[in-house]
Amino acid sequence: MALLELKGVTKIYQQGKIEVPALRGIDLTVEQGEFTTIFGPSGSGKTTLLNMIGCLDKPTSGTIIFAGQELGRLTKKGLAQLRRCNIGFIFQSYNLIPVLTAYENVEFAIRLVGGRSKREMHEKVMQILADVGLAGLENRKPGELSGGQKQRVAIARALVKEPKLVLADEPTANLDSKTSEEVLEVMLKMNQELGTTFIFSTHDPRVMTYARRRLEVRDGLITQDTRGDGASVSH
Ligand SMILES: Nc1ncnc2c1ncn2[C@@H]1O[C@H](COP(=O)(O)OP(=O)(O)OP(=O)(O)O)[C@@H](O)[C@H]1O
Ligand SMILES: [Mg+2]
Repeated sequence: MALLELKGVTKIYQQGKIEVPALRGIDLTVEQGEFTTIFGPSGSGKTTLLNMIGCLDKPTSGTIIFAGQELGRLTKKGLAQLRRCNIGFIFQSYNLIPVLTAYENVEFAIRLVGGRSKREMHEKVMQILADVGLAGLENRKPGELSGGQKQRVAIARALVKEPKLVLADEPTANLDSKTSEEVLEVMLKMNQELGTTFIFSTHDPRVMTYARRRLEVRDGLITQDTRGDGASVSH
């Protein structure tokens, strides 16, 4: 079973009397373990597509099936639960809680899922922070971290609950090119070690080369779907 299946997904935003078609019929299948990028011009629908997949918004028409569950058939509560347990998010502007330390930002995410003892949660948080290269920085607040370090906290926060899927909307847009590549290396490492599926959008051609599958979106449609071993692409 595919992890994710989109069939004929459209999204039309209503701007007063004007209809803005942001997605015009997306058909897409994503298997567990993929490391996929979405690229395309500004306004082509990348964020809209990620928001539909992440249950942050509903399509105007079409169906989305996540791990065998049709999203349109779930209640609001069911959707929220699916999102909380199965989907991690990474944003361009990190979206960390400024008054909490790196440790507390990550712990907060695992607490929301529940079902683990305090000790288990502590070990998990420390492990994932070490995995993303933040050992020793657990007690820093976001304001005391560099952009790349903040994004590593966000990656740890997305992964600590062991979601099936991580969605990242331009995760490196605020980072310089060297730091962008380091952040991508961390994402790729976690994809390879944990088998977590990643879908990330980007404008950066260097960042795209890390993906094993590249989807081009133009005018609300997927216009290219290419596969190649990201790891072997020279950059
Ligand atoms: N909430 C909204 N209300 C109305 N129109 C919207 C809304 N969000 C997005 N749009 C429109 O939908 C289209 C797709 O926008 P989207 O944000 O998905 O593009 P994008 O590919 O992520 O662009 P960028 O690369 O600039 O982030 C654009 O025409 C945009 O203006
Ligand atoms: Mg966008």
